[in-house]
Amino acid sequence: MSAPNSFYVTTPIFYVNDVPHIGHAYTEVATDVLARWHRQSGDPTWLLTGTDEHGQKILRTATANGATPKEWADRLVESAWKPLLKTIDIRNDDFIRTTEPRHEDNVQKFLSLLHDKGFIYTGEYEGAYCVGCEEYKQSSDLVDGTGEYAGQQVCAIHSKPVEILHEKNYFFKMSQFEQQLLDLYEARPEFVQPESARNEVIQFVKQGLADLSISRGTFDWGIKLPWDESHVVYVWFDALLNYITAAGYGSDSEKLERLWPATHIVGKDILRFHAVIWPAMLMAAGIDVPHRVFGHGWLLVGGEKMSKSKLTGIAPTDITDTFGSDAFRYYFLSAIAFGQDGSFSWEDLSARYQAELANGFGNLASRVLAMTQKYFDGVVPAAVDVQPADQAIADVALAAIAQADDAIDRLAIHEAIASVWTLVDALNGYITEQAPWALAKDPANADRLATVLNTCAEGLRVLSVALSPVIPKATSILWSALGAEAKLGPLDDQPIRDAGRWGQLPNGTTVSSLEPLFPRIDTEAATETSPE
Ligand code: ME8
Ligand code: MG
Repeated sequence: MSAPNSFYVTTPIFYVNDVPHIGHAYTEVATDVLARWHRQSGDPTWLLTGTDEHGQKILRTATANGATPKEWADRLVESAWKPLLKTIDIRNDDFIRTTEPRHEDNVQKFLSLLHDKGFIYTGEYEGAYCVGCEEYKQSSDLVDGTGEYAGQQVCAIHSKPVEILHEKNYFFKMSQFEQQLLDLYEARPEFVQPESARNEVIQFVKQGLADLSISRGTFDWGIKLPWDESHVVYVWFDALLNYITAAGYGSDSEKLERLWPATHIVGKDILRFHAVIWPAMLMAAGIDVPHRVFGHGWLLVGGEKMSKSKLTGIAPTDITDTFGSDAFRYYFLSAIAFGQDGSFSWEDLSARYQAELANGFGNLASRVLAMTQKYFDGVVPAAVDVQPADQAIADVALAAIAQADDAIDRLAIHEAIASVWTLVDALNGYITEQAPWALAKDPANADRLATVLNTCAEGLRVLSVALSPVIPKATSILWSALGAEAKLGPLDDQPIRDAGRWGQLPNGTTVSSLEPLFPRIDTEAATETSPE
């Protein structure tokens, strides 16, 4: 068992059949914000992401493009999936590819263990398979097709026909874990989140668990079964194990001990794999189940899940090229309640960028630094006589951080941002009420003016720290301009849970000029370049 405050968090490993769209980027930024918050709190933190490279879907795409699957995977990982992390400013600690020996070798160890323990047997299977999902489907997972597939049954997620497969396979005795899984969901209600997802998973398991076909014998792009090299491991069985092979399973037990169990952040499309199959696999191997599995909602386009296969994907760079990575991160995490679906629109993004980032936060920062320069030659003045209005700001700051930290613990990222934003709003209201420009007109108000600007500068210190997980670029620029870097050291070193404690910015700190953190954007031009 890892240390109580250690935070090992994962994204799904993404299929390399195509390039990333903003749905994948959404999962990445959410996970990264959680990781940055914990890291900045001093919790031992580890963020794992990576790519899922085996299976029929990748094999088919590569073949259709005249490449071997490994060549194809290499190309996509280097040209698209690793660059994505830079585009949206992800600070991951590791990146695992399922074609790496550290993964393949230890997947084989895991399989041998389950085989030796008697959890694997041979059988025959006939069923409907969706290559898009890489999953055997029940009839309840299928819907009537439309358009070119009218009259056929199609996968509810991919809207494409399924294939009927008949194979001799190896099976994992998953049915044996039905009661143990139900006991787990009961004993640890936070294991599957959000609540709606938990209920769905419980209903699914209560209907009865079948054993799982875990091998394929009709193609060879995958990890060979140690006891029968004519079969490769079912791609999901292979992929799920990345969470422990990357953490040292089979190779570094001290590391595994330190990191495991993890918090898994996934889209709701793949929640069942993580909340049912994965814990059953771990139970069979005698390894602790994950800490938590959170299934977030979908980004929708025209009411449907944005997807590569439906060609509705929007490239993350379409957004970051115009608005920047901070705006991308802030927008998706604040505008959508984490756990619910959200519709993306350029209009909404532009409006929130302007109202919240440019006017709400950016302008606040610029005004405070400009007034400090104008009225105090750039030196943050000491507070003189603290009035209730000033104390109220300190109280908001303290409460905002405590509430945000509690929200992050519950994985309610949007609530955490909203809590911190109460301080942005409070400071803007405070400046309007205190009207420093009016105080500055009469030297008799010098002490009052000093107290007001001290309060504002201290507020910006709190905001820099608390918003750094969400908008790391802007907050680091502000941190330097505030003069805090020189007095308090790097922004990354400021403990976030302590950020709300008032009075940390030393008097005499010297501020410098600040270019707009979120410059005005010609939205007309931005929307013209958008792919519709
Ligand atoms: O399923 N909205 O990979 P994948 C929000 N390789 N998130 C979305 C999204 C959307 N419209 N579309 C995709 C796989 N995602 C497997 C995972 S894990 C052991 C193996 C995100 O490339 C979301 O996180 O199809 C979803 O679960 C994931 O991408 C699926 O990525
Ligand atoms: Mg998918």
